[in-house]
Amino acid sequence: MRRKLVVGNWKMYGRLATNQALLQGVLEGVRELRDADYAVCVPYPYLSQAQSMLQGSNVAWGAQNLSPQEEGAFTGAVAPGMLTDFACSYVIIGHSERRGLFHESNEIASAKFAAAQKAGLKPIFCVGETLVERESGITEQVVATQLDAVLVRFGAQALKEAVIAYEPVWAIGTGKTASPDQAQAVHAFIRQRVAQHDAQVAQGLCILYGGSVKAGNAAELFGMPDIDGGLIGGASLVSDDFVAICRAAQK
Ligand code: 13P
Repeated sequence: MRRKLVVGNWKMYGRLATNQALLQGVLEGVRELRDADYAVCVPYPYLSQAQSMLQGSNVAWGAQNLSPQEEGAFTGAVAPGMLTDFACSYVIIGHSERRGLFHESNEIASAKFAAAQKAGLKPIFCVGETLVERESGITEQVVATQLDAVLVRFGAQALKEAVIAYEPVWAIGTGKTASPDQAQAVHAFIRQRVAQHDAQVAQGLCILYGGSVKAGNAAELFGMPDIDGGLIGGASLVSDDFVAICRAAQK
């Protein structure tokens, strides 16, 4: 049985004071939950706050991006070693907002994936199609190309210490969730593709669903055989909502 994982992606939201209340609420809400794993990926300036509030708890923390370089003259960039300085466990790689708004290619995403793993961070590698791509019937093709940027380049063994997040772009922040069957179909496709390289890695691989996961739809999504938890945007900013989603991963 794979263990479920629920990760909050705060995106570019938060302030010291509101984070404090949010993290406190999450800590209290999930304290007794032992059957799943939890994490929050916060903006860089708040890593120290996350570390000091969450260390020793059952909520891990991480970042939302990193530089593929270890150091150098890269103004504004953040190196993998800077994230491990703050004891991050996870880093989100290749989120569709990075791919779309910041023009990150599969090539860049795969370089970041490797840099994260080299530093001992667990990448949460995002894949997902746009609405136009879905309507053109090329969802699997798009997802396969994104996945192959790490699977073919680094081999299935690299996925042993990684998480894949399927986030259909049309479902992100839109309130339009993929139906459990739609999500399950893509999750199964991802697992099968990994299984073609290594059945054991595929069997153990944690594949999260992201895209308008809410307290009201989480249990149904998490109940699907190949959905191992969620990557939560908007609902991770409200402690009661995030805790309710965390609870749904318990069942
Ligand atoms: P929403 O949950 O706000 O749709 O965002 C999903 C997401 O992008 C998580 O990474």
